[in-house]
Amino acid sequence: EKGGWSSFMKKEISEEPDAVANTLRGRVVGGTVQLPELDGVAEELAGINRVLILACGTAAYAGMLGKYAIEAWARIPVDVELSHEFRYRDPVLDERTLVVSVSQSGETMDTLMAVRYAREQGARTLSICNTQGATIPRESDAVLYTHAGPEVAVASTKAFVAQVTALYLLGLHLAGQRGALSEAAIAAQLGELEAVPHKLQQVVDAVSGRIAELAHWMSDTQSVLFLGRHVGFPVALEGALKLKELAYIHAEGFAAGELKHGPIALIEPGQIVFVLVPSPRDPSSLHKKVVSNIQEIRARGARVIAIAELGDVAVVPFADEVLRVPLAAPFFQPLLGVVPLHVFGMELATAKGLDVDQPRNLAKSVTVE
Ligand code: M6R
Repeated sequence: EKGGWSSFMKKEISEEPDAVANTLRGRVVGGTVQLPELDGVAEELAGINRVLILACGTAAYAGMLGKYAIEAWARIPVDVELSHEFRYRDPVLDERTLVVSVSQSGETMDTLMAVRYAREQGARTLSICNTQGATIPRESDAVLYTHAGPEVAVASTKAFVAQVTALYLLGLHLAGQRGALSEAAIAAQLGELEAVPHKLQQVVDAVSGRIAELAHWMSDTQSVLFLGRHVGFPVALEGALKLKELAYIHAEGFAAGELKHGPIALIEPGQIVFVLVPSPRDPSSLHKKVVSNIQEIRARGARVIAIAELGDVAVVPFADEVLRVPLAAPFFQPLLGVVPLHVFGMELATAKGLDVDQPRNLAKSVTVE
């Protein structure tokens, strides 16, 4: 039940740190990944040459982060596809394809039908699910449960961070099995993952008040854009989805590199743009590129709210507001950066007087096509 919280969504955002901690519990031992649930399919997993992640909505954005991490760590090609697109287009797959479905409820009809179809085609099926005994895990070859606890609010929040955690564990497990990463490299990534719950708590505590203020003065806003790059891109999509479903306003997430291929034409004075800024410590040049995107949109009058690492001073002159997140290695930044966007969706809906737990026209689990 809600306890003292004003909404389930508020309670569930406060539980994001625990959702990650509980999904990790018992699965990281002495710098190694322990997933006994996969023992029964160990041989099949060793033989796969491709991973296909199937999901809808927020779960599909978790899947995109899974793709980036699994490819980088395990060196296996990974695709992510929306379940409802996959099953109606005669896709190519066989017994060397591992189909990973991601679903909080485990009852999403489109994902269930996609998993059934994949099985019929001979693919191996692994379910990442938050609901014990749900239909999708029952119909899959193996299941990796997320332990976010029951999620009641229609908008998915703590399930998302738990799904990303499970996908990362799977990626590191596959990397170990294939010798794609050294034991030391796996242990280092696991150390980063184990540090996430504490950092998440810091974000929840640090940003919530300020975001409520921002949402209050933005309550008349008609459109908000979100920009991210690499692992920031799925987070941008997630931020936009939350505003659509909760605050009923137009919101769009873009890959920052795509700006000059079209979306920059949308920028006019006063347009609010959230930007997920990669770490300046990141060896890639993405930080510089995203800061230059911020300059470009700022020059056209955008109001920029940057989500940036503590100590990143390069963004300060160009952003109207900087929301700070703790330092983390690149793959773990999205787990932190998504929290301000979850809070923003909730606060904007609240500022507009809307029901954050039960948005119009939506069901918690979509059991029809
Ligand atoms: O139960 P599932 O994870 O399969 O649900 C998938 C989507 O319906 C769900 O994530 C939806 O997009 C949320 N309302 C987003 O907040």
